Amino acid sequence: MNKTIVIAALAAFLPLVWSQCLTRNDTARLSADKLYYGQRKFSVSLLDALQKARPNESLFFSPHSTYRALLLAYFGAKGETEKSLKKTLHLDWANSKADVSHAYELEKLARANRREHQTVEFNSVDKLYFSKQVELKDCLKQMFNESIEILNFATEPEEARDQINKFVEEVTKDNIKDLLPPGSISHDTNVVLANAAFFKGNWASKFDKEDTQKKIFYEHSRMPVYVDMMRQRGHFNYGVIEELNTVFLEMPYKGEDGSISMYIFLPVFTVNAIDEFLEKVTPEMLDEVFSGGLQREVDIEFPKISFERKFELVPILKHMGVGDLFESGANLTDFSEKQSLKFDDAVHQAKIEIDEEGSVAAAATAIFSFRSSRPTEPAQFICNHPFMFLIHDQKSKEILFAGVYRGPNE
Ligand SMILES: *[C@@H]1O[C@H](CO)[C@@H](O)[C@H](O)[C@H]1NC(C)=O
Ligand SMILES: *[C@@H]1O[C@H](CO)[C@@H](O)[C@H](O)[C@H]1NC(C)=O
Ligand SMILES: *[C@@H]1O[C@H](CO)[C@@H](O)[C@H](O)[C@H]1NC(C)=O
Ligand SMILES: *[C@@H]1O[C@H](CO)[C@@H](O)[C@H](O)[C@H]1NC(C)=O
Repeated sequence: MNKTIVIAALAAFLPLVWSQCLTRNDTARLSADKLYYGQRKFSVSLLDALQKARPNESLFFSPHSTYRALLLAYFGAKGETEKSLKKTLHLDWANSKADVSHAYELEKLARANRREHQTVEFNSVDKLYFSKQVELKDCLKQMFNESIEILNFATEPEEARDQINKFVEEVTKDNIKDLLPPGSISHDTNVVLANAAFFKGNWASKFDKEDTQKKIFYEHSRMPVYVDMMRQRGHFNYGVIEELNTVFLEMPYKGEDGSISMYIFLPVFTVNAIDEFLEKVTPEMLDEVFSGGLQREVDIEFPKISFERKFELVPILKHMGVGDLFESGANLTDFSEKQSLKFDDAVHQAKIEIDEEGSVAAAATAIFSFRSSRPTEPAQFICNHPFMFLIHDQKSKEILFAGVYRGPNE
């Protein structure tokens, strides 16, 4: 069956289920696109907040995974907690929570349908874990049915933690292990919201292993270091963001619709170039990049990369305005009216590996153009100093993963 038909048929059916618990505003034009639009704005704020929390360090994280976990919290929040999450997640387009849940369901269906048709692997799974003692609202049970798991936190907290970590390991194909460290789940835990995401793609134009050489990378604060530098000449989408003194390049992954790409942003090298870039980049500039650039011949040099990062999200999310979500007065009465639920902690862990063949990226979250005329010489895109990179889904216009590479030692 053609994918458009599947989505349309299910979209027509879903409101019937919801009408029992949520009144949907049918006059509002709903679509998953609005969720992605909010997610892009959230991505740039998250990058800024992480960069401030970890200055002078290479970063890698998944805006997608963080956004999904917070979206789960939004569905259970009411009152002030709901308001601050709505703002942080840029859900201002929605008239009601029902509008957001509609978009969320459509997005899930669209992604499941695409998975069957693409050679690039991207999987993202949400889970809501509740303690046996929590009496969930029927509405929530209907909406998240198969994503809900009931665990015995009160009597077997370590087993519950194991089970959540196993879910993350499974979705991320063993790339993210021990997301929740020993002791992080206690007898008092009554809710854990989680997302795990995995991406694997091969370059549409691979690098030849024989061309990889040890070459110098100029880290910001140290002596130059040697890295394994991959090299190729090919035709790529290339452009300039003049305001930011930055050139960008799109390296597509192989896929039937060529819809997922890595974008690399390389500011002209000065001492603080990458920091100035990160400070000034806006969602609007990224939107222009995703629809701009020009195909041209380029000589690329790009280092092989492999690193992992773990973030304590609470201070970062507080900085981004999630307000009282992590305080004892948080209003989560849309999960359960009987028990008072609360969140104390949130972690995010992400891993990236880029080599001649392609990339593997995994992440999990738990809550707890200036157009130049074509020159005859190939352009050069030599990533031998700090740069930013994104894995971008061209179809949904969603930023799946993002990173800043400052060198192997930073
Ligand atoms: C429904 O959405 C429309 C358009 O955004 C708005 O004007 C109207 O007030 C909303 N109605 C309710 C009941 O929320
Ligand atoms: C980051 O590096 C700059 C320049 O080397 C230095 O001035 C600054 O103190 C560093 N910041 C931190 C938090 O280490
Ligand atoms: C949660 O918010 C709702 C809607 O504003 C309010 O009626 C309710 O009293 C709040 N509950 C708690 C526990 O704060
Ligand atoms: C999900 O739906 C099935 C069938 O309607 C039901 O038996 C099950 O209890 C539901 N699960 C939850 C967590 O509500």
